[in-house]
Amino acid sequence: MKSNTTFLALAAVVVGALAVPTMSFAQKKPATKKPAPKAAAVTYKTVGPTITKTCAGCHTGAAGKAGLDLSTYAGIMKGNKEGKIVMAGNPAKSMLCTVLHGKPKLMPPKHAVDAKTIAVVEAWVKGGAKEK
Ligand code: HEC
Repeated sequence: MKSNTTFLALAAVVVGALAVPTMSFAQKKPATKKPAPKAAAVTYKTVGPTITKTCAGCHTGAAGKAGLDLSTYAGIMKGNKEGKIVMAGNPAKSMLCTVLHGKPKLMPPKHAVDAKTIAVVEAWVKGGAKEK
């Protein structure tokens, strides 16, 4: 049984010799850094249903008030014959947002929307008014 024992001892040394570099490699491997999670961008997918619910009652299709169709992404981005109401990246210049603050004050009282809705609409415009 002596040769067997020798073989086992040798095997242990070999395994050990292999294991050491493997382990040190594993230790040297830089800790994989996960990128900080980004806040999910607001897209039309997120904000669309809110705009539809709040605005499309009066602004839908060709007969929409002020010539605006706020029931679709294309309609919102198109604006009306007076121009665009969304300046991607710039809520302060986007009528879609400013009307929510009563500017211009042509809005019937029903334009009043809660702060949370205003915030999400503005975040969407600020983020580039992306469809998806
Ligand atoms: C109760 C009906 C009604 C609802 C609901 C409504 N609007 Fe209006 N909106 C109007 C009317 C009427 C006008 C036109 C006022 C005028 O031309 O004097 C108007 C005008 C506008 C204009 C101005 C367009 C321009 O070029 O002058 C914008 C922008 C607008 N609405 C956005 C919205 C948004 C955004 C919502 C949802 C938060 C909304 N509206 C909800 C009735 C409504």
